[in-house]
Amino acid sequence: MKQLQGRVAVVTGAASGIGLAMARRFAGAGMHMVLADIEEAPLNRARDEILATGAQAMAMKVDVMSEAQVGELADAAYARFGAVHVVCNNAGVAAPALRTRAWESTIADWQWIHNVNFMGVLHGVRAFVPRMLAAGDEGHIVNTASVAGLLTGANPYHVSKHAVSCLTEGLYKDLRTLGARVSASVLCPGLIKTGILDAERNRPVEFGPATDLGALAPDVQAWASGFRSALAGGYEPSQVADAVAQAILEDRYYIVPAQPFLLELIRTRMQDIIDQRNPTMAPPV
Ligand SMILES: NC(=O)c1ccc[n+]([C@@H]2O[C@H](COP(=O)([O-])OP(=O)(O)OC[C@H]3O[C@@H](n4cnc5c(N)ncnc54)[C@H](O)[C@@H]3O)[C@@H](O)[C@H]2O)c1
Repeated sequence: MKQLQGRVAVVTGAASGIGLAMARRFAGAGMHMVLADIEEAPLNRARDEILATGAQAMAMKVDVMSEAQVGELADAAYARFGAVHVVCNNAGVAAPALRTRAWESTIADWQWIHNVNFMGVLHGVRAFVPRMLAAGDEGHIVNTASVAGLLTGANPYHVSKHAVSCLTEGLYKDLRTLGARVSASVLCPGLIKTGILDAERNRPVEFGPATDLGALAPDVQAWASGFRSALAGGYEPSQVADAVAQAILEDRYYIVPAQPFLLELIRTRMQDIIDQRNPTMAPPV
């Protein structure tokens, strides 16, 4: 896209963290904002903050796990602004332990994290892309994966983020092949200072209790507490938002605001594949 000013952006997971930072950044660039999140009180605060800057904004409580609710979000966005140019499918969750072994996470954890992190993004793509293509305006889809979608781990979070990165690269190619004026990017942040490790606050009761962190092996528990400190010392969400705005304007597919050591791990993994050597062992991230 050539400009953000006067265009319409939809952001899911807009009540906090990276989503809120993107909403602030886009509104600051003169975009009209559609904010969606499952947590209503912080969502409404985010909308009010943006309205107070003089930007136009609406907020809608949406559970991205629901195809119907994401469809209603698209209806509401088009009804209010008549067009949608940028869609950030960003809502996501993680279990407190995050990096469990395949057999340690409960099936409920696998399902909840898959349903939010992957199905939520898929619902956004299915609800918005056909309408954006039909409108014929220029547009951009930004799907939030993670460096976890470029590195590996046998846990629900990494696996869900790989699905997002695969979906998004395929989407990018399909849009290019069609000659569409809509493009796509995958957002793969590294360690960012947000509330992601407290995502249990949004866990629906039907998914049952979280994997019991205290019942996991001591090394998994130790890793989880180390990871919490690493996130607390991570990049600011506003840095991620700046990178996203720039990438939309430059039509850049990969947005990887990640610490240099994470970029090195990605490089090593790619080289493992090319050289057909066994995965290089490194401390988990
Ligand atoms: N924080 C990091 O270090 C990091 C790194 C890589 C990727 N990410 C990804 O960034 C995205 C944003 O996370 P964040 O770090 O800002 O965390 P966050 O917890 O601050 O924000 C996530 C938002 O998503 C919302 N949400 C959760 N479940 C939802 C649902 N079912 N429907 C609608 N909204 C829902 C939450 O209410 C919250 O406002 C996620 O996809 C996350 O996986 C985060």
